[in-house]
Amino acid sequence: MKIIYCDSIINPQVIDADYETEQKAAKNAGFETHLLSFEKLEEGNINSAIHFISKKEEKEMALYRGWMVQSKTYELLYNALLQKNIQLINSPKEYEHCHYLPNSYSKIENHTPISNWMKLNDVIDFEEIYKLTNQFGENSIIIKDYVKSEKYHWKEACFIPKASDKDKIKNSVQKFIQLRGKQLNEGLVFRKFEELEFLTQHSKSSLPLTKEFRIFFLNKKIVNIFNYWDEGEYGDTKPDLKKFTQIAQEIDSNFFTMDIAQKIDGEWIIMELGDGQVSGLPDNADKNDFYKNLKKMIY
Ligand SMILES: Nc1ncnc2c1ncn2[C@@H]1O[C@H](COP(=O)(O)OP(=O)(O)O)[C@@H](O)[C@H]1O
Ligand SMILES: [Mg+2]
Repeated sequence: MKIIYCDSIINPQVIDADYETEQKAAKNAGFETHLLSFEKLEEGNINSAIHFISKKEEKEMALYRGWMVQSKTYELLYNALLQKNIQLINSPKEYEHCHYLPNSYSKIENHTPISNWMKLNDVIDFEEIYKLTNQFGENSIIIKDYVKSEKYHWKEACFIPKASDKDKIKNSVQKFIQLRGKQLNEGLVFRKFEELEFLTQHSKSSLPLTKEFRIFFLNKKIVNIFNYWDEGEYGDTKPDLKKFTQIAQEIDSNFFTMDIAQKIDGEWIIMELGDGQVSGLPDNADKNDFYKNLKKMIY
């Protein structure tokens, strides 16, 4: 198993500074590492993106650890690496399963906020949007696309106090779409807002932080569990992991993350899943421990 990171924009031989400590930890754990050009990958220039990764004699498995890419780009990368006898840990279908909320929703729906969604076209159809938001009655809801929210613009583009407030929905959806810009993934998702155990106020935005954890699963087994936020006092709050390990068995991915949070009534729920290759490690994460565990679990 090799690990592929993104290079720094300036030098194809140098790792992206944000992943430097990860690469060191991977090497310490005994992994061979490679670099690709994220800029060229995003441009669709796939052959130059992986120019410095040499073709293997025999098929080898690899894991990408880098910035999020859209499903189409992942597929491009996956197929181009296969030509070099390198197979990424998740197929394009497996990547999309955890990357897009609607794709895995049926697997987690009893353990995650009630959600609905629609594809977005060039023209925003607010009547179609209201049909979705009406299903939440007077409840509070949050907006995201199939992958990401604008959580740091909590009041303007994420949280809607009352799902029946059409003016607020219109303003927030417009703001959300404007902020996401070209990064918008597929469409809109609306989710019932759940009252979660409060941790602290985010230092740079109005987002209230809650006691969330990020669990990494490899081949359906837990690699590590991290505090999702780097601020706030988690105290000795610890989730019951048995329930989530059971749910993980149904998820169609070999390497993924599950973010979980605690409701104020004590119940633990899933906030979202993500492909493990593009889910960040929080600053507080012990990266050496993470890569050591990966190594142990792979061989
Ligand atoms: N349905 C919800 N109920 C309560 N809080 C939520 C809900 N959805 C999101 N949040 C809060 O907003 C944050 C961002 O939402 P998330 O779905 O994880 O989007 P992103 O992919 O942008 O991180 C979460 O970490 C959580 O604190
Ligand atoms: Mg999140």
